[in-house]
Amino acid sequence: MTEEALPGGFVNVVVRVGATVRRTPSPNAEFAHRVLAHLERHGWPGAPRFLGTDDSGREILSYVDGHVAWQPHPHSTRSLVAVARLLRAFHDLTAGTELAGDREVVCHNDLSPKNTVYDSDLMPVAFIDWDLAAPGERVHDVAHVCWQYLALGPGVTDPAATGRDLRAIADAYGLSDLSALLDTVLWWQDRCWRGIEAEASAGVAHAVRLRALGVVREIQDQYRWTAGNRSLLEG
Ligand SMILES: Nc1ncnc2c1ncn2[C@@H]1O[C@H](COP(=O)(O)OP(=O)(O)O)[C@@H](O)[C@H]1O
Ligand SMILES: [Mg+2]
Repeated sequence: MTEEALPGGFVNVVVRVGATVRRTPSPNAEFAHRVLAHLERHGWPGAPRFLGTDDSGREILSYVDGHVAWQPHPHSTRSLVAVARLLRAFHDLTAGTELAGDREVVCHNDLSPKNTVYDSDLMPVAFIDWDLAAPGERVHDVAHVCWQYLALGPGVTDPAATGRDLRAIADAYGLSDLSALLDTVLWWQDRCWRGIEAEASAGVAHAVRLRALGVVREIQDQYRWTAGNRSLLEG
């Protein structure tokens, strides 16, 4: 069967082979596979299935048919609400399980349009790229969703409208503490640029590449923008 390279990944070389996807396993793969197996046992359709390991040591996942938004595109409120509901369903399936340990839930930790498969109406079907999944708090993933799907930063043209969408996400998820949510968006942005900076300084190839593309400065600008527009976003 032929291998077809899939666009959009930044860390991994990901190929499609028929109805499957092959990826180099991450150091966290064992945990991520347990999470995917747990979601499969519950019949949750919002993640690929883990199907095993191939002869080259790559993980085999089911290919989720649809469109991955690896280039930025605006989201309708309806699509954002659907992302929040999909996230809530996933979190609720992990709450109180051994996988969540002593934390509230299992977090995906990298939710973004690039890691979401959409249907032809641009409604979310599944989250992919579970490499960073780990026990965590609900607000962590909700804040990451707000940052990434709303593209919080200087590119936002109507902060009041974006604030309404942010509150629609929080409502659809069922999160009421908007102040904690904004604190956590800022925490992610801060931690993300510092992480890239530290890895780039240590010579990690993908971080060097990101820094050369101006991503560190871009995220610093997003942090400043979010801090400066906080009251409009909280409403
Ligand atoms: N299970 C899947 N179903 C469909 N497409 C996938 C799947 N897994 C990955 N892809 C495609 O491969 C790209 C890169 O995969 P991803 O798992 O996000 O890798 P990376 O760690 O490099 O970001 C995605 O943007 C998507 O286009
Ligand atoms: Mg990805």
